[in-house]
Amino acid sequence: MSTNSTVRFDGLRALVTGGGTGIGRATAVTLARQGAYVSVAGRTEATLRETIDEIRAEGGQGQAVICDVSDEDSVKNAVSVAAGEQQRLDVAVNSAGVSGGDALRPLADYDTAQFDRMLTVDLRGTFLCMKYELALMADRRSGAIVNVGSGTSLVGVPGFAGYVAAKHGAAGLTKTAALDYGGLGIRVNTVAAGLVETPLVATGRSEETMAARIAQHPLGRIAQAQEIADAIVWLCSGQSSFVTGAIIPVDGGYTVH
Ligand SMILES: NC(=O)c1ccc[n+]([C@@H]2O[C@H](COP(=O)([O-])OP(=O)(O)OC[C@H]3O[C@@H](n4cnc5c(N)ncnc54)[C@H](O)[C@@H]3O)[C@@H](O)[C@H]2O)c1
Repeated sequence: MSTNSTVRFDGLRALVTGGGTGIGRATAVTLARQGAYVSVAGRTEATLRETIDEIRAEGGQGQAVICDVSDEDSVKNAVSVAAGEQQRLDVAVNSAGVSGGDALRPLADYDTAQFDRMLTVDLRGTFLCMKYELALMADRRSGAIVNVGSGTSLVGVPGFAGYVAAKHGAAGLTKTAALDYGGLGIRVNTVAAGLVETPLVATGRSEETMAARIAQHPLGRIAQAQEIADAIVWLCSGQSSFVTGAIIPVDGGYTVH
């Protein structure tokens, strides 16, 4: 259960990309629980449907929107559908992303196709979503965007060139958009998450690898998606009204080292 459950989003329209699973799903369900109409966007209809079922089971409202964030027309359409007849978008959470898995390589050995994939989804995808979200928010001179980043938005990780480059780049987009749109009252922030128990980290990782990664977090454990969603929802809300351009670690101390 969210810790900031008193914040209400009644009458507001929200878009959550990557909302079919993990951090995106927890965020979408929380925003809907707190009154928003939530458009849940992603590539896989079945998982989007599960999120919508969860939202409706709690009495919330929302819709599923098929979207590939690396495809500009698909993003343009998804943002427009999310904004509905009045073309209104109050909150956007860009959580869609892919990780480099455990295929760690020093940069000279890093697979170029893998690098391109990371940049296409995690950086270009974030750019495309922000581009169309901000256009709508600028029309109404209000809105809040939260990009879901990582410890890799702030620090390097050996062998992880593609993901680190993409997440650092997306952090740069957050800062630039905060400068571009602060004068219109639009806030743009990044939550830099530590290790979170989601499908992204669950696949293809040995117990040893997971234990080593958990040990890098001073709190000594992996996070639950809700712990990241709570920070995201705070950044979407008026409770964070003087926060913009921030890359906020929610990482169990991972980036303290
Ligand atoms: N899980 C972690 O440990 C962790 C840590 C730091 C940051 N993150 C970030 O959190 C975000 C969410 O990841 P998660 O952990 O919830 O994992 P996840 O795999 O559950 O969520 C990612 C979602 O993005 C979707 N997606 C992937 N490519 C897409 C595309 N081209 N178009 C549309 N949707 C696409 C996936 O289908 C999935 O639903 C990602 O940006 C990830 O980089 C995760």
